[in-house]
Amino acid sequence: MELSDLTYIQRLFDVFYGVGALPGGGVTRLGYTELEDEMHRRFSDLAKELGCTVDTDLAGNTYAWLIPAHEYVLIGSHLDSVIQGGRYDGVAGVMAGLLLLKRAKEANLPLPLKVAAFRCEESSNFGCCTMGSGLVTHQLKEGPEKLAGLTGKNGETLGEVFARRGLSLTPPRITGVKEYLELHIEQGKVLEETGVRVGVVSTIAGPRRWKLQLKGLAEHSGATPMSMRQDALCAAAEIVLAVERIGQREAALCESVATVGVIQNTPNALNVVPGAAELGIDLRGSHTDSLDRMEHDTLTAARKICARRHIDLIESKLSEMDPVSMDEGIQRGLMAAAERLSISCRNMPSGAGHDAMAFAPLFPTGMVFIPCKQGISHNPLESASLQSILDGTDVLWAYLKDMK
Ligand code: GLV
Ligand code: MN
Ligand code: MN
Repeated sequence: MELSDLTYIQRLFDVFYGVGALPGGGVTRLGYTELEDEMHRRFSDLAKELGCTVDTDLAGNTYAWLIPAHEYVLIGSHLDSVIQGGRYDGVAGVMAGLLLLKRAKEANLPLPLKVAAFRCEESSNFGCCTMGSGLVTHQLKEGPEKLAGLTGKNGETLGEVFARRGLSLTPPRITGVKEYLELHIEQGKVLEETGVRVGVVSTIAGPRRWKLQLKGLAEHSGATPMSMRQDALCAAAEIVLAVERIGQREAALCESVATVGVIQNTPNALNVVPGAAELGIDLRGSHTDSLDRMEHDTLTAARKICARRHIDLIESKLSEMDPVSMDEGIQRGLMAAAERLSISCRNMPSGAGHDAMAFAPLFPTGMVFIPCKQGISHNPLESASLQSILDGTDVLWAYLKDMK
């Protein structure tokens, strides 16, 4: 029996639902962990159910296709999540890919399609984003030695994880990609607030990520006078606010953003002056000069604050990716497909990062956004309607059928 498209999407959603589920709602499925493996196993089983061939590469990404082709359109996204994330970020795009395969099969259309589930798109585990897609496109700026040394949330390095799994930090570059397409939830409020059903992405902001380690002196909080302290957390607090100010200034100039998303306080005890602190900083923008300014000003502010407070500062750049533009022909094609279907559509930039960033410098690349509830993402409350996933998939399908 053939399932209707909506019933099929619901089924896919249900299959992935329980993996990494949290008691308070949402999921945690960190990249290169067993929970992400389980997501890939379920993807592979679903693809095989459609009659697909399934394979993996040396970065651990999983691919599914119905008919072999030297040149193919790659539809991709990811199956990992942030810590305490939602069930749509990444997964919606992989579900759209499976639905496209199902349609191609039912319509008996020999479309050269491959669907990819990429590994570790989120920076939540290793501080580096788009790892699976970035490795196979050779787009990660960090070399294999640096990548191998990145430490995950469980204390294991990426080098150790890859060695244990038989993966490679220098896999061969992916070939045969005619175009790369990705459906993703918007992760912002624009589509919902303007009542538009689908977005076609114009540019994706580039991220630059830094870790700052601050070393002061842990001392007795009762016995150490205020004027004699080297309080690492107070220095960190000043840096957090400096980063916010820099982000606000650059937001007004170039719509850039700056966030301190990680803070560790050591020893984190009520009666000890904080002796050490660590910050994780995420700078994003679509203009390289704005990213350069934010990076320079953040480091200058951190150095000044630490010098004034007699705190040692160690700066490490975790990762960076350049801002990218989507292919103009694909943007036009996707907008025209939406118009033919009478699905309202707008051209818009992406502030969030996506696997498409790794493909855009090499292959014609395009992205379709669908609304998510109140724009909330990277949060257990993240939600999108299955009808929206269907809308976005309809646009991709109409575009693909017309491809020469
Ligand atoms: C990926 O979700 C990102 O951090 O933009
Ligand atoms: Mn995400
Ligand atoms: Mn995502």
